[in-house]
Amino acid sequence: MTKLKAVITGVHGYLPEYRLTNEELSTMVDTSDEWIMQRIGIKERRILKEKGKATSDMGAEAVKGLLKKTGTNPEDIDLIIVSTVTPDMLFPSTANLITHKAGLKNAWGFDLLAACSGFLFGLETANRFVTSGQYKKVILVGADMMSTITDYSDRTICPLFGDAASAVLLEPTKDENIGILDHSLFVDGSGGEHLNLKAGGSLNPASHETVDKKWHYTHQDGKAVFKVAVSYMADVSVDVMKRNNLSPEDNLWLVPHQANMRIIEAVARRMGLAKEKVMVNIQKYGNTTAATIPLCLWEWEDQLKKGDDLILTAFGGGYTWGAIYLKWAY
Ligand code: UT7
Repeated sequence: MTKLKAVITGVHGYLPEYRLTNEELSTMVDTSDEWIMQRIGIKERRILKEKGKATSDMGAEAVKGLLKKTGTNPEDIDLIIVSTVTPDMLFPSTANLITHKAGLKNAWGFDLLAACSGFLFGLETANRFVTSGQYKKVILVGADMMSTITDYSDRTICPLFGDAASAVLLEPTKDENIGILDHSLFVDGSGGEHLNLKAGGSLNPASHETVDKKWHYTHQDGKAVFKVAVSYMADVSVDVMKRNNLSPEDNLWLVPHQANMRIIEAVARRMGLAKEKVMVNIQKYGNTTAATIPLCLWEWEDQLKKGDDLILTAFGGGYTWGAIYLKWAY
């Protein structure tokens, strides 16, 4: 009997309009377009500026666009998973809020927290629901409003992040030439000290002290994270490539997390991939955490063909990292 697989049947993103350029950042902190382009590779990032709007609003826009584009009735969605580190609030979950805003009347759902690897962890989770045979239409959203946890007075962190959301629809298939085929996902809690957001949880609930110490902002030891990000992302991507007998000569695409252009280039080099086969949009959007990988899929979907091999890879806070191998469906 042919095995049931999960396949991405549509993707749609949402980008806030406001563009925060390197020039504007240079008026806020002691930095320059030259430094940011050389060391990170980002030109501008999008910021959600509308008062009263949050992660669920970006996610709901992405979901509504996805439903329209795929001709899907909102009431046919069984489950929604929202990967985010910037939920609107601790509860209700952002998934709850999106079901309401996008009219997903018959879906249940939950938020998933795996920082920059959120989309990968969410994809494997959604894969399990779909391949159980009990879920026919699952939506996975990667959405983050990183501007709300970024300290715009710290030049070591503020150039890195942007806001965005992107959603994919997953459905079951028996077609042997498409679908999610392999994964390798990891966590290492000892990495938490180098990349974290300390306050607002049960350990350090919000207080005057946590605000004074800037513990509600992302903290990162960039150098420490850089080193492991390169080696872990490259190792896991090469592993998945070898395990599935993929070679750079095949129609193989790399969809890497977009944290630093130098990291992306190093991973692509280790895999032996040509520049043209690596999805890169970091210069336009920066690091949008869980939204990054599905934003790339959205931007490149017109260039992809049925049966193309894709390796999705990410590294992020936690630490969390991994790679997923899939064959594109359309
Ligand atoms: O997405 C989750 C995973 N995160 C990552 O993968 C990020 C990994 N880390 C990185 O991408 C890089 O480490 C950063 C982009 C964060 C930093 O780049 P770096 O080349 O590692 O710079 P650095 O932290 O070693 O800093 C070098 C110098 C320092 O000055 P001194 O001490 O040498 O005088 C910094 O103060 O560059 C300075 N610097 C800046 N200068 C101008 C740091 N940020 C800036 C800036 N503009 N924005």
